[in-house]
Amino acid sequence: MLEAIREVVRAAPLYVPQMPRTGRPMSVRMTNCGSLGWVTDRDRGYRYQPTHPATGEPWPPIPSALLELWDRLSDYPHPPEACLVNFYDDKAKMGLHQDRDETEFAAPVLSVSLGDACLFRVGGTTRNDPTTSFRLESGDVVILGGAGRLCFHGVDRIYPASSPLLPKGGRLNLTLRRVTLPAS
Ligand code: SIN
Ligand code: FE2
Repeated sequence: MLEAIREVVRAAPLYVPQMPRTGRPMSVRMTNCGSLGWVTDRDRGYRYQPTHPATGEPWPPIPSALLELWDRLSDYPHPPEACLVNFYDDKAKMGLHQDRDETEFAAPVLSVSLGDACLFRVGGTTRNDPTTSFRLESGDVVILGGAGRLCFHGVDRIYPASSPLLPKGGRLNLTLRRVTLPAS
């Protein structure tokens, strides 16, 4: 799976996403694969689009190992359309948020972690609900689905040098999403 993601990153380089309105850079670097990719910048904010914001090229396809994982674990009868690839260096984190830029909420968000461990935080469906945190290790899969689909979640910190998988360290997180409603 790592080799497949390396190929994705060669075709669709990691870039620095910006927060809506402020243009403040996020600490993670991002790219996508799939027919749609999640992007954010100062002027146009959070959205899905079919092309890489820097190269203008279509995103590369989702690797088969990830599609197979979705088939096995998603309990959803249609394929994912987007796979967001987040790369965290030792200092990167991600604030508490909901994944709600999709139209289809019946599908889960399925996440795979590779490389260094992180402290993952998950709460309820409103921002002020209590949260719990736990460590995600390389190879762990998290599914935000069903009643948990819209739970707030984030990454508080990375544990540097906690996995030998990535030679230069860091953490990759891959999240598979169904974005649009399937044609009925
Ligand atoms: C995300 O919410 O997009 C990423 C979550 C993670 O890195 O585990
Ligand atoms: Fe998320």
